Order: sequence, then C-alpha cells, then structure tokens
Amino acid sequence: LRPNNQTQRTQIVVVAALLTAATIVFWGFVSIGAETIRDPADAERVAAVTRPATDFTKAESYELNAAGAATSHDPINISAFSHPSANMAFDRQLDFRVGDGIFRKLWVSAPSSTVSSDGLGPLFNARSCQSCHLKDGRGVPPEGDSVAVALFLRLSIPPETDAQREALETFRMPVIAEPTYGGQLQNFSIAGLLSEGNMVATYEPVEVELADGTIVTLRDPTYSVSDLNYGPLHPDAMLSPRLAPPMIGMGLLEDIPADDILAHADPEDSDGDGISGRANWSWNVEEDRLMLGRFGWKAGEPTIAQQSAHAFAGDIGISSAMAAAWSGDCTEFQTDCGNATDGRDPDEGVEVPQKMFDLVVFYARNLAVPARRDIDDPQVLEGKQLFYESGCIGCHVPKFVTGRETEPEQSFQLIWPYSDLLLHDMGDGLADGRPEGAADGSEWRTAPLWGLGLAETVGDGRAYYLHDGRATTILEAILWHGGEAEASKDRVVAMTKDQREALLAFLRSL
Ligand code: HEC
Ligand code: HEC
Repeated sequence: LRPNNQTQRTQIVVVAALLTAATIVFWGFVSIGAETIRDPADAERVAAVTRPATDFTKAESYELNAAGAATSHDPINISAFSHPSANMAFDRQLDFRVGDGIFRKLWVSAPSSTVSSDGLGPLFNARSCQSCHLKDGRGVPPEGDSVAVALFLRLSIPPETDAQREALETFRMPVIAEPTYGGQLQNFSIAGLLSEGNMVATYEPVEVELADGTIVTLRDPTYSVSDLNYGPLHPDAMLSPRLAPPMIGMGLLEDIPADDILAHADPEDSDGDGISGRANWSWNVEEDRLMLGRFGWKAGEPTIAQQSAHAFAGDIGISSAMAAAWSGDCTEFQTDCGNATDGRDPDEGVEVPQKMFDLVVFYARNLAVPARRDIDDPQVLEGKQLFYESGCIGCHVPKFVTGRETEPEQSFQLIWPYSDLLLHDMGDGLADGRPEGAADGSEWRTAPLWGLGLAETVGDGRAYYLHDGRATTILEAILWHGGEAEASKDRVVAMTKDQREALLAFLRSL
C-alpha cells in the first residue's frame, strides 16, 4: 500500500524512526549485556541440548567431550592440562607454543641483557605465570615453613570518600586498594628493595562426623600478615586469600553468551529453592564499558585479557597496555619501589609488548579440558544421579553452548563446565568478609568442576581445593559448603558410604 496523504506519510516516517531508535537501544543493550549474541534460530536447539539429564542408566550423548570439539584426548598424565584445543588448526598451534613459552618465562629485574624478559617487580609474588598455575593446573598453598607463592592476600579498605563510593557503585573500581600496600601483599621484591611482608596461614583442625560415623578432619585457616616493611596496614584493611585456579577451558567460559549465564541468576530466590545466584559486574578497561564478571574466585574480571594484564601487574610486576603502571602494585608511600629501574620496551613504553601479551592470552584461552573418563561406569552414573538429586546442579550447572561469533576453537560448542559462573553466599565458614565488585564478603563464584578428577594427577599427587586451598580432598571441599549450599552439603553428610563413594567416583570422572 502506498501512503495516500501527508498524515500517513508522517506516520510512516515516525514509525520508521521509532523502529530505528528501538533497534539502536536494543543493540546498545545487547552490547552491554551479552558479549556474544545468540542467534534466535539457535536458541531452541541450545535449550534442548543443555536441559539437565533425567536418565541416569547410561551416559548422555556427547558427555565424553567435556569441552566439545576442543576436548583433549591426549594420554592422562601430569601434562593433562597443557594441551591446545583439539580442534585448533595446525598453523595456530605455533602461536600456542610461543604463548606457552611466555607463560613459563621467568622474568628478571631490569636492566638485564635479556631485554625482552626484564621488568620484574619491583614487588612481586612470583616470577612467572607457571610458578602459580603449576603445570597449567591449580597452585599449592605454602607447605611447612615455605613462603607463599601461589596463595596470596588481596587487600582493600571500605570507601572513605564520595569519589571512592561512586567508583564502587558504578563498578569503575572493584575495590579500594589498601593505601600503603596496594591491592595485594607481595611477599617478594627485587634486590635492594624491601618486600612488603609475609602472609601467615595457620590451620585449626575441625572434626566433622558423617551419618555413617566416619570422621573427616577439616583445616580451618586463619590469615594474618607478619614482617610488614612499610608500616602498619590501614586499621580497616580487609584480606582475601586467593589460590591460583586451574587454567583449562578459559576461552570457552569467556564465550558463553552473557544472557545464557544471566538466565540462571535468581537474585531474590523467586523459585524458593534456597539458591539465588547473582551476577558480578566488572569494568572492561580496554573497551571502557561494564561487562558481566566471569574470572577469578569472585568473578571480578570480565575477560581473560584483563585478568592476565592484572596478573602481569599485580603478581609479577610487569606492565602492559591494559595495566600500564610499570612499577606494578607500588603505592605512593613506597618511594624506593617507584624509583626502581623498569624494563619498558622502548617502542611501546610497557614491559610486555602487545604481541607477546596477545600470545599469552591466546594460550590461556586455549588450554584444553581433558575428556571425561568412565562415563558409562555404573558407580559413576549412580554418583551423577546423586549429584543431581543433592542439588549440586543448582550452582554447578552442567551444560552450556558457546556463542558462534567467537574464534574458531570456541565457536558453538556444547561444553560441560559444571558452573553457572554466578556468585553464591557460601556461609560464614568460607566468607572472607571482603567485597569485590558486586560480590559481598560471603559470596564466591561457583567453581567450574571440569578437570576436577585430574587435579591430583596434574599436581603430582597432591591437590588443594577451594579459593584458598584449605581442602586437601574433594570430600573436604564439599563439607566446607554452607550458606545457599548448606542443604546440599547436609545431603552428602547423610549419605551411606556407598552413596558417598559413588558421588566421589562421579566427581573424579570429571
Ligand atoms: C602469584 C600467583 C599467580 C601468578 C604469577 C599468576 N596467577 Fe593467574 N591467578 C592467580 C590467582 C590467585 C587467581 C585467582 C584470582 C582471583 O580470585 O582474584 C588467578 C586467576 C587467573 C585466571 C582466571 C582463572 C579463573 O578460573 O577464572 C587466569 C586466566 C589467569 N590467572 C592467568 C594468568 C596469567 C596469564 C598469568 C601470567 C601473566 C598469571 N595468571 C599469573 C595466581 C597467579
Ligand atoms: C549454592 C551453590 C553451590 C551448591 C549447591 C554446590 N556448590 Fe560446590 N561450589 C560452589 C562455590 C561457590 C564453590 C567455590 C567456593 C570457594 O572456593 O570458596 C564451590 C566449590 C566446589 C568444589 C571445589 C572446586 C575447586 O576447584 O576447588 C567442589 C568439589 C564442589 N563445589 C562440589 C560440590 C558438590 C558435590 C555439590 C553438591 C553436593 C556442590 N558443590 C553444591 C557453589 C555450590
């Protein structure tokens, strides 16, 4: 139909303008809410394949491949977490190997003859990524009298000014760093400079009796700092212990459409199952916009790149384009630190040039998740059913499908991370009392469970679980669950020995 008078013509123009405006608003919203956008035509298929299992008599289709086509089928040994995405094209594998070299690189202090490896510190927790993410797996908390490396304390204070309050409310800043010591306590420093001090962890044994009479002894930690070299901490300083988590499957977690994660959020617990699930929000420094937080134990970081830039800066004292302060986590009260020699690249003005940085991020995106084992074993299947029936999947959500608009290795894969990537109140026992972004002092991001059963293999016979490594077995990790997970934990406590063994057999098959 053609418009036959001026009014109709005006109506058409107005409607067209409104539609355009609506489209802009819609895409504007999408670009805040979703990093990758789900094609509506895929939505139904995705809903069907991610529906929780109901038949526990046999394994599900595709269950073997925990990370879809990216799943590693390499032999299971201490290097099980160090393989590239299995679907990576041959010509990209060279980049992966170069990235591996940078992940292992031991940084040295400047100036040094190896210019491309200098700039360490001045303050640091470790000299390489790999010294904390051991064999690309989880870190080890200090054993005996050793100085902590892979476990460190994050530091912050409550806001003191209106500007600080606003920065927190708008998520421009996730925390207000402790004024003298900065965002984390560095136990090490380059020669000629004082380190910040030492993190001290002490453990009290706590006995838990299970319904069948078995006694499990948990280690209840207390954290403090000793040998502070730059004066006392702020009186309201808040400490949060963090252990290096395993590195597998990161790119796939990054490429789950944000809306699919948010669909599991239930902040007011409107379905009344006792489990809420809240998103963390985090400022993307590079793109200057708010994004869903996904990485770190409180989901405080929006992307692998930003997490890595902050690791370079805070953990090793290496500057990059995204975190350009070459003196890392030095504060204005640490003048020797600020005056130390740096290792800036003459062209780029930062210590890790962009190309090198991108390669390490590519590496981190593509560390493959190993294939499941024993998925048809009757005991594993019984354990899987108990995992579902105990409410574990309320947080450890089994399946997601990644978006299509990603790099080739991650595109449109059915993945089994066993996490909703959301925050949950885990009770007083696990609380650190230190907010980060939208996360409060008792909330933690549901830990992904893929690769859980290989933690000991990759850890050369030992593994430490939870955000601070207080748990030395998977069962201990479960028994620390409280808050929203209290009811789930109680079901495990009430299990018979055979049921418990089945649940653990399932978890070891992940
Ligand atoms: C001093 C120990 C240490 C070093 C060195 C270190 N990390 Fe980490 N890494 C951690 C800790 C602890 C976390 C968890 C951080 C948190 O909860 O805030 C983490 C988290 C991560 C994550 C997110 C993992 C997840 O499950 O969300 C990535 C990715 C990562 N690190 C990459 C790197 C890269 C790349 C390097 C080297 C540039 C590096 N890390 C160096 C300790 C370390
Ligand atoms: C309310 C949400 C919630 C429920 C329900 C829940 N978990 Fe967790 N789980 C978490 C969170 C959050 C963490 C990380 C806590 C931390 O590190 O302090 C976690 C951590 C774990 C870990 C340690 C992972 C690691 O890498 O260190 C295991 C194992 C685990 N959960 C198993 C289970 C099992 C088995 C069940 C059911 C009996 C269960 N969880 C129920 C939220 C939940």
